[in-house]
Amino acid sequence: MTTQKFPGLAGVIAGDTAISTVGKKGLGLNYRGYSIDDLAEHATFEEVAYLLLYKALPNRVELAAYRKKLLGLRRLPEGLRRILEQLPGSAHPMDVLRTGCSALGALEPESPDHDQYEVANRLIASFSGMLAYWYHYGKSGERIDTGTEEESLGGHFLRLLHGHPPSDLHRRMLNASLILYAEHEFNASTFSARVTASTLSDIYSAVTSAIGTLRGPLHGGANEESMKLIARFGSAEEAEKAVLGMLERKEKIMGFGHRVYRESDPRSKIIKAWSKKLAEEASKMVLFEVSERIEQVMRREKDLFPNLDFYSATAYHLGGIPTPLFTPVFVFARISGWSAHIIEQRGANKLIRPTADYIGPPPRPFVPIEERG
Ligand code: COA
Repeated sequence: MTTQKFPGLAGVIAGDTAISTVGKKGLGLNYRGYSIDDLAEHATFEEVAYLLLYKALPNRVELAAYRKKLLGLRRLPEGLRRILEQLPGSAHPMDVLRTGCSALGALEPESPDHDQYEVANRLIASFSGMLAYWYHYGKSGERIDTGTEEESLGGHFLRLLHGHPPSDLHRRMLNASLILYAEHEFNASTFSARVTASTLSDIYSAVTSAIGTLRGPLHGGANEESMKLIARFGSAEEAEKAVLGMLERKEKIMGFGHRVYRESDPRSKIIKAWSKKLAEEASKMVLFEVSERIEQVMRREKDLFPNLDFYSATAYHLGGIPTPLFTPVFVFARISGWSAHIIEQRGANKLIRPTADYIGPPPRPFVPIEERG
């Protein structure tokens, strides 16, 4: 029985932020004042990353310069490539990114002439290449060049993954998805990044903490788990029957529910529309129909709604992304939000160190080892 006043810190306001609002009455989800609907419809991920880091949308000249900067940061140093080659092809891709981030921190440490913005942009530009390099090397021993000329990060990743330019539809889907995943206030991984940053540690350490936190299925790992569930079914009827059984056994259905949202996740309808578009274009409606039926069952039985991860699963699957790579794509996007939060934390830093209610044994005398029996 927990005595916790706020289990999981639910409802606790743990700090101030000017980066985004989540679930606040009348504000919805916005990044630095811009609604997620407008950003996902009209912006590119690069504009959003710039907005999060530099607090304002770029003008044309600034955006062109920013794109050029990111393009120049895509290639990986020799030392990192050798480290990626040592990791088994069977490793979980999130372990690869966590290791890659930490290794880059040793090869290109934060310093007065390699400041936090430089590191943030380096990670935004290079995470997708890190993953693709390890992925191809592990599969076939091929050492790919991670420096494509694709303008968008989404297009760059899909091109590295498949070895050819992606379709416009797939590129646009991933662009919208990266925007939706870019930032979400004090979620678990961002909070963990802020805790690490609050000790005055370096930015790579803060991001490495965040990647480890994102990996779990209650957080970023939910998109991968959602796909594993959806892929089990050949029809909507089969899915309904199985999900009812899971609920009966009190199993969680990954991709549903949210700590902050109560009625719906504002990002879900946007990625659902993309999932449907891709399914129609490929004339592969089964997985979408299975997903919709699971959504209906969860609403009817538990009054729960899909979060961003649920329809991201089918959108990514139809976009040709292998399931184990889903959560790393979340990292490619969220690195922009994490970096903005690390910079914000440092701007008004106070060590994050809460206290706990003690529920252990009362004081007792020490018993020497000889007398313990
Ligand atoms: N499937 C089935 N039941 C769920 C559920 C889900 N996805 N999410 C919540 N519930 C149920 C819980 O079993 C619990 O029921 P109970 O009161 O009968 O025990 C109740 O709803 C409250 O859930 P709880 O896990 O305590 O709420 P929380 O605020 O701590 O959880 C999440 C938030 C996101 C961790 C939770 O909804 C979840 O585990 N979702 C699945 C993982 C996921 O999609 N994560 C990505 C989040 S963006």
